[in-house]
Amino acid sequence: TAAQKGGYPHFMLKEIYEQPDALRNTITPRIVNSLPDFTEDGIDDDVLRNLENITVVACGTAMHAGIVGKAMIEKELRIPVNVEIASEFRYKEPLINEKTLVIVTSQSGETIDTLEALRLAKRCGSKVLSIVNVKGSTIARESDYVLYTHAGPEIAVASTKAYSVQMAAMYLIGCRIGYVKGIYSEDRAREFIRQLLDVIPVIEETLKQADEVKTVANYIKMAPDAFFIGRGLDYTLSLEGALKLKEISYVHAEAYAAGELKHGTIALITDNVPVIALATQESVYGKMISNIREVKARGAYVILVSMDEEYNDGDVCDKHISIPKQDGLFTVFSAAVILQLIAYYTSDAKGLDVDKPRNLAKSVTVE
Ligand code: G6P
Repeated sequence: TAAQKGGYPHFMLKEIYEQPDALRNTITPRIVNSLPDFTEDGIDDDVLRNLENITVVACGTAMHAGIVGKAMIEKELRIPVNVEIASEFRYKEPLINEKTLVIVTSQSGETIDTLEALRLAKRCGSKVLSIVNVKGSTIARESDYVLYTHAGPEIAVASTKAYSVQMAAMYLIGCRIGYVKGIYSEDRAREFIRQLLDVIPVIEETLKQADEVKTVANYIKMAPDAFFIGRGLDYTLSLEGALKLKEISYVHAEAYAAGELKHGTIALITDNVPVIALATQESVYGKMISNIREVKARGAYVILVSMDEEYNDGDVCDKHISIPKQDGLFTVFSAAVILQLIAYYTSDAKGLDVDKPRNLAKSVTVE
């Protein structure tokens, strides 16, 4: 398998570095005349035009991609999006009907809870559009429409490139919905697509921060707990950052909406507790910095991820990791890479089996 790893020590690192290609392969075939276009995928525009609300159903990382999609779609299109954990959704009477587009998201296309949720959604009369990575998988076959992500095979148990392309698929779908519903002008849709494509070189640039991230990981590896904080889209991304760290490095981590921390577990922020703070959302940047000062004042070791070129204020952060400047709607992609690298290097520094964390399976096909 050394050859399969293409010179990388682990599949996870290889897959992190494959993200520019995975995104390019997923996005570009769906762009015609600089606009999102699902003709080749056979996705009916009428379904997108007529939907009144959206429910995303998925498990694990795929569900986290849905939470990012929700934040983006609700902000941009003002269409309500509900995100449901498949194993919860399937055992309740879901609030969906024929006006709901159900988006089922799954890397493998075989997760049993997600598959059963899909079947329930169809029985409720909703149309199902799935975002799936594995061609011909059961979820793909049973859906009304499929938008395949083209990440290629993902071997590492911890999902990385599949997550990024799921987010990209949500962004493409959101943009097409906005366009066919007339919420987005043609110009706005084109501008959105331009910024989405820009994510690819931005990630290439972001990957150059790997060595910086490694030094951070050497710190985090000693901690029993870590916190991820952010606001808006940054918060939705931090959920995945915390999951990734827990899954492969066994450092207990929690994601908190930055403003909520003081209503919850700020008591756990004591000397040297690592806090990974995402601050890429301009409209709440000032609020975010004051939240960071709150944890810093309690002794936290703050790792700030932001678009500032450098950040030298020691009252704010101990370590700054900079990502390229972009519109805040699109920073989740590059910030995700930083969070994946944090989890990867922490696990590796602890000498753990990065690609095969204990007790986890790549795909869960039994209940
Ligand atoms: C398993 C994996 C997770 C994954 C989840 C959903 O629990 O360990 O990494 O996110 O299943 O998998 P799917 O293939 O449906 O995206």
